[in-house]
Amino acid sequence: MKTKIINYPDLLKARDRHKSDTLFANAHVSHLKEMEELGKGKKYYIHTYGCQANVRDEETMRGMLESVNFIKTENPSEADVIIINTCAVRENAEDKVYGEIGNLKKYRRSNKKLVLAICGCMVEQPEILEILTQKFPEVNLYFGTHEIDQLLDLIYETYNSDIRLISIESKQGEVIENKLVKRNNEFKAYVNIIYGCNKFCTYCIVPYTRGKERSRKFSDIMDEVRRLKKENYQEITFLGQNVNAYGKDLDEGHDFADVLEEAAKMGIPRIRFTTSHPWDFSSKMIEIIAKYDNIMKCIHLPVQSGNDEVLRLMGRRYNREHYLNLVKEMRDKIKGLSLSTDIIVGFPNETEEQFKDTLSLVDEVKYESAFTFIYSPRRGTPAAKMVDNVSYKDKSRRFQELVKHLEVNIEKDSLSYIGGVYKVLVDGRSKTDSNMLSGYTESNKLVHFKGDENLIGKIVNVLIIESHTYSLIGELVDE
Ligand code: SAH
Ligand code: SF4
Ligand code: F3S
Repeated sequence: MKTKIINYPDLLKARDRHKSDTLFANAHVSHLKEMEELGKGKKYYIHTYGCQANVRDEETMRGMLESVNFIKTENPSEADVIIINTCAVRENAEDKVYGEIGNLKKYRRSNKKLVLAICGCMVEQPEILEILTQKFPEVNLYFGTHEIDQLLDLIYETYNSDIRLISIESKQGEVIENKLVKRNNEFKAYVNIIYGCNKFCTYCIVPYTRGKERSRKFSDIMDEVRRLKKENYQEITFLGQNVNAYGKDLDEGHDFADVLEEAAKMGIPRIRFTTSHPWDFSSKMIEIIAKYDNIMKCIHLPVQSGNDEVLRLMGRRYNREHYLNLVKEMRDKIKGLSLSTDIIVGFPNETEEQFKDTLSLVDEVKYESAFTFIYSPRRGTPAAKMVDNVSYKDKSRRFQELVKHLEVNIEKDSLSYIGGVYKVLVDGRSKTDSNMLSGYTESNKLVHFKGDENLIGKIVNVLIIESHTYSLIGELVDE
């Protein structure tokens, strides 16, 4: 099979942040008529790894495919197009993808016309792409995070041909509007407000895979929120690697607090946002969150480490004191605040004392939930070049210790719900017990309770009667 390279990733270009205005464009398909014909009677399968940015990309791909008659299938063996949407943030995320391609490649042998595509953050790394193309000759399409909107044209070119197509351009990226989107959920929606990342934390691959920080126009975001309100969406989550950097690249005069306030006034019952960087959090944002009932009092504020030297080496742009002051201001001004975080243990050469600073910070902040990770070197990032003197065994032990510290407060927090009545947005049937429904409180606690299926998508009152570390059990309360 011949390989046709339209663009090949390049980490130097990916790192580039030359000053330029954010480019806006509208989604466009060159071979629409032909694809509408081709899609008839055909099925697609998409598997998405990683963060909400990838989930949102999946929704765009679904929208595009379904607009030209493809039908979704959960069974890859009957698909005509298979797309694996990958994540590169840690090695274990990548390992899962290698495993899955290994399982799927057989379908290319039984169906020569099958489009087997790999996209997402993994393929933005030239060395990983090299490994993939050598290891899996069956894969016939690779495209990057900046090519999502070209999906139909890329399939058009790959289908029925005998070429392997690679279209991955490392660039700062643009903002594409008017995409064909098929949302995964009918009452909860993600709304992108800013793409990319300019922070370049020394351990992180995301700025290389997603381009520069670029905000959508304020009016485009608000149009989307208005539509969602009209369609009776109960919850929206504003998305960005750093939502609170919103607007910095535009000269529209709007910041993240304005996005929150304008959306809150439209009356969507629940407004959430993720992720916030401590560096970009302003007092104005805190005041707006405190002011509106329909802005959920949940802030995901990754700290990564509690030690100043480690934070400096990570390139996080704040120190422990700044972070703790910010937390204090938030807790003082926002009643019922639920704080969550991300923490990395085992950053290169992290000492036992430095790790203990993370433990003491965790004890002090008393997070209501947290994601914890063992540091994973990412090729091309500055941290990956540091010689590391910490053994994996020590890193694992620290990881366990950290989880124990976090759980002390998480359990206490869960226990405090017992006897109270909370508003729960019902997601669906419980994954572990089909007799139960599941949903989330405003503070983002998972609740299971008995109830009828017609409650799915509604906000109901639930009395909490039992608590576990990561979930609650309740009973429906009649209104
Ligand atoms: N933009 C978000 C996070 C994106 S990645 C933010 O800045 O908060 C999600 C989390 O993955 C990060 O917060 C970090 O804790 C973790 N992470 C990123 N790179 C990592 C690496 N190389 N090894 C381990 N964890 C990592
Ligand atoms: Fe990665 Fe840091 Fe950007 Fe978050 S802020 S995506 S951790 S570089
Ligand atoms: Fe993973 Fe890319 Fe998101 S690396 S965490 S899918 S931005």
